[in-house]
Amino acid sequence: MVVAAGSGSRLGASVPKAFVPLAGVPLLGHALRGALSCPAVSEAVVVAPAAHCAEAQSLAEDVCRELGSAATVTVVVGGAQRGDSVAAGLAELGDDIDIVLVHDAARCLTPVQVFDRVVAAVRAGAPAVVPGTAVVDTVKQVDGDGHVVATPDRSTLRAVQTPQGFRRDVLERAHAVSSAATDDAGLVERLGERVLVVDGDPRALKITTPADLEAAARLLPAHP
Ligand code: C5P
Repeated sequence: MVVAAGSGSRLGASVPKAFVPLAGVPLLGHALRGALSCPAVSEAVVVAPAAHCAEAQSLAEDVCRELGSAATVTVVVGGAQRGDSVAAGLAELGDDIDIVLVHDAARCLTPVQVFDRVVAAVRAGAPAVVPGTAVVDTVKQVDGDGHVVATPDRSTLRAVQTPQGFRRDVLERAHAVSSAATDDAGLVERLGERVLVVDGDPRALKITTPADLEAAARLLPAHP
């Protein structure tokens, strides 16, 4: 599932973030190319803003044609928060699906190897898997007044990305309790299920600001 229903107000564009072009292709098109290049992906559910569902469908069909992918594509309208959009996508999954990847369209340059690693770890028995990278900054926990209350040991921290992969029953159980979290693994943690971190990739950066869009453009193979 690719969630693409956010407005992306911090990017300051006139269209929702997933439809902002990067080298002439909307971010969602790049994200779908990564996801559909993964041989394990047999079905793509795209969650989009109501006004952009037709565009999302035709983008997905273009990518399937380009890759020769036989994956089925469904587009559904998203919700107010990211978690609501994931819940809307979950409701559309076909009966035969037992592993679900949840991917942010905003992480549009995530290499296919990250998808492959996440799927492999779920297939190997982990109920929930997230890609993550080591944290280079020292991270402080602060109180409401901005005073530091703790400095976690940096070597124990990971910055996590998407796609996050789940056994379907585990993700559905988590969303049945609540969809309110900044990532889906956070919901699964609340169930008491173990979440495994596998290697992420710097190219899976999340595009939030215009500077991120410039950084992503520099990562494209054709960039001089
Ligand atoms: O806003 P943010 O960058 O954190 O969103 C992460 C991903 O979740 C984006 O791909 C965005 O399109 C998606 N999203 C969504 N529905 C929302 C909010 C965000 O699908 N209501």
